[in-house]
Amino acid sequence: MKLLVTGGAGFIGSHFIRHILAKYPDYQVINLDKLTYAGNLENCKDYAKNPNYRFKKGDIVDKKLVDQLAAEVDVIVNIAAETHVDNSIEGPTVFLETNVMGTQNLLETARNHGHGRFIQVSTDEVYGDRLEGSFKENDMLKPSSPYSASKAAGDLLCLAYKRTYGTPVIISRCSNNYGSHQYPEKLIPFFIKKLLAGEKVPLYGNGTNVRDWLHVSDHCKAIDLILHKGKVGEIYNVSANEEHSNLEVTRILLKIFGLPEDKIEYTEDRPGHDLRYSVDASKIKSELGWTPEVKFEEGFRAMVEWYKTNSK
Ligand SMILES: NC(=O)c1ccc[n+]([C@@H]2O[C@H](COP(=O)([O-])OP(=O)(O)OC[C@H]3O[C@@H](n4cnc5c(N)ncnc54)[C@H](O)[C@@H]3O)[C@@H](O)[C@H]2O)c1
Repeated sequence: MKLLVTGGAGFIGSHFIRHILAKYPDYQVINLDKLTYAGNLENCKDYAKNPNYRFKKGDIVDKKLVDQLAAEVDVIVNIAAETHVDNSIEGPTVFLETNVMGTQNLLETARNHGHGRFIQVSTDEVYGDRLEGSFKENDMLKPSSPYSASKAAGDLLCLAYKRTYGTPVIISRCSNNYGSHQYPEKLIPFFIKKLLAGEKVPLYGNGTNVRDWLHVSDHCKAIDLILHKGKVGEIYNVSANEEHSNLEVTRILLKIFGLPEDKIEYTEDRPGHDLRYSVDASKIKSELGWTPEVKFEEGFRAMVEWYKTNSK
């Protein structure tokens, strides 16, 4: 199989390509990445010389380039996105350009080339927040931030392309990932960087916002299963139901670092801050046989060790 993976120099994309190259030695992967501030070729350096791997710097919005690359592959896995909610509040336009127009450009290419599969890597944030219970795949989308709204728009375009043109689209909607190689703007790597520098960690509001954590390797296994066994036109939620408030996660970090609670600096809350995310992943478990394997405590400690060794 030949894959075009977009956003492969980012956090999840770089792990996904590593997973594919290791598990399927006869597969070929083209990594298309714009190398925004969040993309880093260091994330791919352990497989950069693999003969089955090729990197191409470029934008998913670039029609000519996407068309050229897509002609060489059987499937497209769209992982590229603008991903930081705070940035989307400051400047939403680039989120629409990449997450909406970029997705549409890839869909249009897939339509013209008649690809076998188009996997759209989306997020649980498209459903918005809820205080109790979990969202199912057919629940209403109610995104809160420009980021999640742009991801929801990308998902809807995927479903429209399936319905209108028969494009073989499958969507995954995963909860928050943790693991190595993440740009230090998201809560966990950002806080680790601060603690390593001896600084306080700025926690939004009172820290009670709940996030549902999954190790990035378990997300990659889910995308792999969806790619190979997922049913075209379907949506699969992905989650280990490992819910922790941001304050709990911060306390776990402080404990690992052996630091006191006064290292927390409570700051003004993010506008529109979602209170709790939760998706029901029973469909991917029962239909595709996916199960999360990494235990939160073990994965979390290993991740902290990785950042301690690899942060500059
Ligand atoms: N991180 C999470 O917890 C999480 C959870 C669920 C879903 N997701 C989804 O997974 C995907 C990847 O997230 P991530 O955390 O790895 O993001 P990231 O910010 O670490 O990486 C995004 C990558 O996309 C590239 N990129 C951005 N705009 C591009 C463009 N126009 N053309 C080509 N490349 C471009 C960047 O250079 C970067 O390498 C996103 O679609 C996100 O919505 C992330």
